[in-house]
Amino acid sequence: MSGQLIGSDIHVVYGRGATRVHAVRGVSVAVSTERSLGLAGESGSGKSTLARALVGMSRPTDGRVEWNGARLETLPARGVGSRPRIVQMVFQDPMSSLNPRMTVGDAIREALQVNDIPGDHRTETVRLLNIVGLSATDVEKYPFQFSGGQRQRVAIARALAVRPEVLVCDEATSALDVSVQASVLNLLRDIRRESGLALAVVSHNLDVLRYLCDDIAVMRQGVVVENRPAEDLFRDPHDPYTRMLLDAVPRFSVTPGIDRGTAA
Ligand SMILES: Nc1ncnc2c1ncn2[C@@H]1O[C@H](COP(=O)(O)OP(=O)(O)OP(=O)(O)O)[C@@H](O)[C@H]1O
Ligand SMILES: [Mg+2]
Repeated sequence: MSGQLIGSDIHVVYGRGATRVHAVRGVSVAVSTERSLGLAGESGSGKSTLARALVGMSRPTDGRVEWNGARLETLPARGVGSRPRIVQMVFQDPMSSLNPRMTVGDAIREALQVNDIPGDHRTETVRLLNIVGLSATDVEKYPFQFSGGQRQRVAIARALAVRPEVLVCDEATSALDVSVQASVLNLLRDIRRESGLALAVVSHNLDVLRYLCDDIAVMRQGVVVENRPAEDLFRDPHDPYTRMLLDAVPRFSVTPGIDRGTAA
């Protein structure tokens, strides 16, 4: 299946009066099953705000988000926060998105139930855990019984439970140490290959984006200053700000370890 999520001329304004922040200022981006999208840019540039608008977690002040031509808010909405199940998001800190009093099995089964996913939910839960490199024995465990990398795998499994067409990861690996980060990045790349998801990744780590994304949009102060195929952007950044970000990349990299895919 192919599909495309398009955000057109998105504006997001927080607050009013003296506290008004125009966090996203007329941004247009696309992510599709064919081309994954990376969002780069310094802290406060509006990446997470744009990501939340793209998944329908917050309604943009202006502009539109469409999945295959249909407005996001017209798509069937179920589950947490009644956002469209077409799009799911994985956050930096999986501890905050997983209920500490619920076993991992229950959390995934709940996502299956709430979203009316057909089939045997026990079998499906184990299948999802296997996809992310966990096992059937993990269903009875609570979030605190996992490592950070394993918890992030659980969060990914739960997002996949809903059978989304688009997966948006907001700094989903930045809290993890380098080898664990590499294994989660491998996992995301495999999932994308195998299930044909449209993947959007928010990261301030350009190596992460280069590894996962076909296109990279660089944000600065709520505006996209450059949006191009990743390889072009790295070879020949047009925008001075992009050049500055590339120059600021530390001289060590997460990518050399990535393909080894050590289990987290
Ligand atoms: N809920 C909110 N209420 C008011 N202002 C907000 C809110 N969330 C974000 N902002 C402001 O909007 C701007 C963009 O924030 P956003 O979180 O989107 O940036 P970011 O690029 O994701 O940064 P980071 O890399 O630090 O995660 C910032 O100025 C921020 O202070
Ligand atoms: Mg952010």
